[in-house]
Amino acid sequence: MIRIAKRMDNIPPYIFAAVSKKIAVKRAEGMDVINLGIGSPDLTPPQFIVDALKGAADEAISHRYPSYFGLPELRQAVADWYAGRFDVTLDPAREVLPLIGSKEGIAHMAQVLIDPGDVALVPDPGYPTYSKGTLLANGEVYYMPLQKENGFMPDLDAIPEDVRRRARCIWVNYPNNPTGAIAPLSFFEELIVFAQENDIAVMADNPYSDVTYDGYVAPSFLQVEGAREVGVEFHSLSKTYNMAGWRVGMVVGNETIIEALTRVKSNVDTGIFRPVQIGAIAALTGDQSWLVERNATYQERRDVVMAGLEAAGISATSPKATLYVWPETPAGYTSEEFSMKVLNEAGVWITPGNAFGPSGEGFLRISLCTTADRLREAMERINNLDWK
Ligand SMILES: Cc1ncc(COP(=O)(O)O)c(C=O)c1O
Repeated sequence: MIRIAKRMDNIPPYIFAAVSKKIAVKRAEGMDVINLGIGSPDLTPPQFIVDALKGAADEAISHRYPSYFGLPELRQAVADWYAGRFDVTLDPAREVLPLIGSKEGIAHMAQVLIDPGDVALVPDPGYPTYSKGTLLANGEVYYMPLQKENGFMPDLDAIPEDVRRRARCIWVNYPNNPTGAIAPLSFFEELIVFAQENDIAVMADNPYSDVTYDGYVAPSFLQVEGAREVGVEFHSLSKTYNMAGWRVGMVVGNETIIEALTRVKSNVDTGIFRPVQIGAIAALTGDQSWLVERNATYQERRDVVMAGLEAAGISATSPKATLYVWPETPAGYTSEEFSMKVLNEAGVWITPGNAFGPSGEGFLRISLCTTADRLREAMERINNLDWK
């Protein structure tokens, strides 16, 4: 008889893995499903980035095991990018570590910080890997509700004393998935004081810093004085450069944390395929002007969704960043009931807010990774449903 470890009792299949099966069944039944679920950019990176990957694939050295620490040139490119984009100086040898996508680093970070019974402070709703990584390390999750009244920011003062004492890290993510909220630098200042007072490491997750609208420029946690003494920032090429399938990201900041994560990773994985690293260097160091048009495309899509929601009488705040709109669930439905109705009757998949944590109940997440025409059609289909 095979026995699966008890900790697995708390680990359901990744929400989007389960949903993609459901959508595949609907499609097999002949339904033209418009999937507004996952935030996987449908647009492609420019050819110069793909060419860098292709060129490297022809080099014999690329077929060997890559370095555990990432190519020195990639670490340098990350440091240069942080200097140019955020005016943050990083030591590429000690304060930068490339990741196999930031999800991998986020999950492994719990092995660095969490002993059994330790607490991780996790935003609710939030990106699921913060909590699941904690549970895989036999840690406990304390959910910090993100409420509309607070601009979807956690209330640090509301975290009880005994929880603070057992907490080893706090996860924050602005621009925020799933709510689309943004945070001012003053929030990071508050967070650093909280971290210092309670000996809690800050894990700032910033993959949407460069998917922004209406002229908004997102900050980095590391721009704030004292940040690298208390924490790290995760970043990713997935959303910034339309490279989600490449699996490349980075963690930067506190060198003690990064050294420990390097030890975990070097025992678990063996780095990133060299051509992917070469492509990542091209993305980080090459011409960035294409991002303006890319963001204009997303902004147009956002406007299509906002107009559709308004026409349907569904309330939502127009996000200044991220790939998501976070409308309120119409009265009379739970998030899941509404999203299942929309899937079954309109062939549109939108994620129920509670998939991101209990405080996501009452909301829905619409992803912008679909063309404006298809988004328009999706909003029309929803509007034509009999749900009012
Ligand atoms: C908030 C947040 N963090 C991290 C990730 C992981 O991105 P990746 O592993 O592709 O770098 C995502 C992806 O959706 C995300 O939304």
